[in-house]
Amino acid sequence: MDFYGRDFLRILDFSEDELLYMLSTAKKFKEYKKTGRAHKIFPNKNIAILFEKTSTRTRCSFEVAGYDLGMGVTYLEPTGSQMGHKESIADTARVLARIYDGIEYRGFSQEIVNGLAQYSKVPVWNGLTNECHPTQALGDFMTIEEHFGRLKGLTLAFVGDTRNNVANSLMVMSAKMGVNFIACGPESLRPANEIVEACRPIAEKNGCTITVTSNIADLNGRADVIYTDVWLSMGEDKEKWGERIQLLTPYRVDMEMMNRAKPETVFLHCLPSFHDLNTAVARDVYEKYGISEMEVSNEVFESERSLVFEEAENRMHTIKAVMFLTLYKKEVK
Ligand code: CP
Ligand code: NVA
Repeated sequence: MDFYGRDFLRILDFSEDELLYMLSTAKKFKEYKKTGRAHKIFPNKNIAILFEKTSTRTRCSFEVAGYDLGMGVTYLEPTGSQMGHKESIADTARVLARIYDGIEYRGFSQEIVNGLAQYSKVPVWNGLTNECHPTQALGDFMTIEEHFGRLKGLTLAFVGDTRNNVANSLMVMSAKMGVNFIACGPESLRPANEIVEACRPIAEKNGCTITVTSNIADLNGRADVIYTDVWLSMGEDKEKWGERIQLLTPYRVDMEMMNRAKPETVFLHCLPSFHDLNTAVARDVYEKYGISEMEVSNEVFESERSLVFEEAENRMHTIKAVMFLTLYKKEVK
């Protein structure tokens, strides 16, 4: 397995063994962190992290993982760079690659991160695009593996907007890890055929299935993990809230859905989540549409079956693994 110098753009670009190796590397780093073992492996390296959309978990994970590995980290915020406004992707990539040893990008189309990678001589890591969120899927699967002690044979159901970035990456990761994947949401928000078709043969090879359904009853007795995400992703038209609420309210994750799945079913969410009225967006939605919980009930979110904060922590350990593996050159003597 050779990760050195590679980009991390999509889960699809990595083999099953490579993904498992990333997870085991993350586990090692988590142990180091918990036991206070220093791992400042790259004291002479620096990374740039570019965010064209806002972030808490991904930004903090790249920053802390970078510092833990001994690196310098430069954060460029949505308005803090020339990229896209005064400087092309190709020029930005060529400039940053002269100064930094790795580049993270969060933003809009996958084409942008692909373009950065094409023109950059140093690894480019995808911190979320409209199409996928690969570092999220790694953190999620680390959490699932920690909880169940295994991956193969489990069933993960993504409920809600099943064509969003998080759902896409989870579908591919599930197929690669031998985890049955159920995309459960309204017909008009179904995953793109292209992704389903790409995942089916991978799933078949790894002994698992991909199910696309609008029927919540299809989760009953099957889902070990129920996962949901916001009903309107960053960059989508705010005018769509009304339509999304109408379409997705039947797919809110509540205790009844959890109980009907299995008594031991756990809940995951990439976060941030609208499960109460403690955010400005949730209060706006409440005033306009009268709903106080969106994709998940507060009861489920706050329950013992919710692993969302372990999941958020695991973003840091998995991102550290991705950076380490793609930056570390084994010396051949
Ligand atoms: N889950 C996730 O990517 O969170 P942030 O948007 O806060 O980075
Ligand atoms: N689907 C969400 C994920 C946020 C981490 C979004 O793109 O806004």
